[in-house]
Amino acid sequence: MRIDQFIYESSQLIETAIASDSARLDAELLLAKVLNTSRSYFYAHPEYVLNAKQLAALHDLLELRCLGHPIAYILGQKEFWSLDLTVNNGVLIPRPETETLVEFALQLNLPTDASVVDLGTGSGAIALALASEKKSWQIVAVEFNNAALTVAKNNIETVATKHFSALQLIQANWLSAFAEQSFDLVIANPPYIDIHDPHLQQGDVRFEPKTALVSNEQGLADIKCIVRHATYCLRAGGYLMIEHGCDQSEQTKDLLTNNNFVDVNGHRDLSNNFRFVSAMKK
Ligand SMILES: C[S@@+](CC[C@H](N)C(=O)[O-])C[C@H]1O[C@@H](n2cnc3c(N)ncnc32)[C@H](O)[C@@H]1O
Repeated sequence: MRIDQFIYESSQLIETAIASDSARLDAELLLAKVLNTSRSYFYAHPEYVLNAKQLAALHDLLELRCLGHPIAYILGQKEFWSLDLTVNNGVLIPRPETETLVEFALQLNLPTDASVVDLGTGSGAIALALASEKKSWQIVAVEFNNAALTVAKNNIETVATKHFSALQLIQANWLSAFAEQSFDLVIANPPYIDIHDPHLQQGDVRFEPKTALVSNEQGLADIKCIVRHATYCLRAGGYLMIEHGCDQSEQTKDLLTNNNFVDVNGHRDLSNNFRFVSAMKK
């Protein structure tokens, strides 16, 4: 089978099986993985004939995609903040929404050698993005799940180079491992979905670890825990930033205000949904 034929037929298969709005892109990405080439190759060589071994490998990957497995898990990769991160089903697939937190954090007025913690680092996405931009920040990435820790460790070793700031990975329950006034910035994308939320049964989310997604108390238990810990671990004038569900902005802001944070603000993501709250410790 020729490359152009494979792309056409497999796009149709994916489209029919899971109504993916990125069926053609998905097919091209699977092909790029198997041929170990860039997508531009397909446009230059549409007549290339795939051999039996390549077709067998493509068939396996296509089957997974048609069953709904996320393209990021099939490829084992996801781009975040222009960094190529390794991912597997032990970690949340980093989302573009979370890049808005990184963007905001980079604009905060923090000391040059700011002490920063990324809570629930998963693949290491937020910590690595910050480390790639702020060479003098002292960054700690915290994770409690063993499978996620393995992925984060691998990404820190392979993505972080000597041009990145110091980045330490620690296994802990949120901020429990840290002393009073340890940080200038606490940034977190915690689990915040209610266990009964129907979105858990849809799309990519079905394949992601529940420990990365679900929280008690209508999704707010972990956010509450982080806010309480942060009042203790932040330095005066330090910031807390928490990602939340698009209907949790008011509750998260109230929590922060009730815990004596000031300068409490809700922020929207690129889809115009409220996505995170920032606040300063007095
Ligand atoms: C929504 S995911 C965020 C992953 C990553 N920061 C990102 O933005 O792509 C939440 C992460 O928090 C971790 N986590 C859940 N409970 C935790 C706890 N008590 N302490 C530390 N990490 C926790 C999960 O294992 C998961 O990796």
